[in-house]
Amino acid sequence: MLSAVSVDGLPDGSVAEVAFAGRSNVGKSTLLNALVGHKGLARTSNTPGRTQQLNYFLLNEKSSGLTCHLVDMPGYGYARAAKKEIRKWTGLIRDYLRGRPNLRRVFLLVDARRGLMPADMEILELLQEAAVSTQVVLTKADKLKTGERAKAHDKLAAELKPFVVVHPTLVMTSSLKGIGLEDLQEALKDAVQ
Ligand code: GTP
Ligand code: MG
Repeated sequence: MLSAVSVDGLPDGSVAEVAFAGRSNVGKSTLLNALVGHKGLARTSNTPGRTQQLNYFLLNEKSSGLTCHLVDMPGYGYARAAKKEIRKWTGLIRDYLRGRPNLRRVFLLVDARRGLMPADMEILELLQEAAVSTQVVLTKADKLKTGERAKAHDKLAAELKPFVVVHPTLVMTSSLKGIGLEDLQEALKDAVQ
């Protein structure tokens, strides 16, 4: 629908929105595509730093009456980009997350193999300060065996305890294998309705 390089370029706040945030390459764009069943919608890539703007998509599901904006965000924590670029993206991410009244929930994506990294902690602190409702979504679960998934889940749940803005339910997903997409759809409905 629209791409914004600064918060001045965002749509007015009349439509509820949810955003996909997380480290570069964690799988934000791929998961957004999988969630709506539309492969080429948000651009994905093997190279971190693919998404560089706030990309808006309008979801208008006739069957359920669900209408909202889905926002694909640039990733953070990508050390190899030019310093100037990193500053630009980080500024955009922070401005957006801090000051968007119609932002109903942030889905914070975390690689199931890696768990929380320092850059995730910084964003969690910002979300906590700004009192933004947040739900953590583990990605790339296909890379872990079932037992390892449970371990990753429990470790993360314990680490997230201090963050009161974080929803108690963690969603385990794999866009590749279609794991957890229904749970994520439920979470989206819960956030918007
Ligand atoms: P930036 O836009 O750079 O911040 O990255 P992103 O978080 O949008 O990641 P993107 O969706 O572009 O995916 C990054 C890489 O991870 C791509 O090579 C995807 O194919 C891969 N990927 C995404 N989801 C999955 C998954 O569920 N399983 C596996 N194995 N790979 C995945
Ligand atoms: Mg992306």
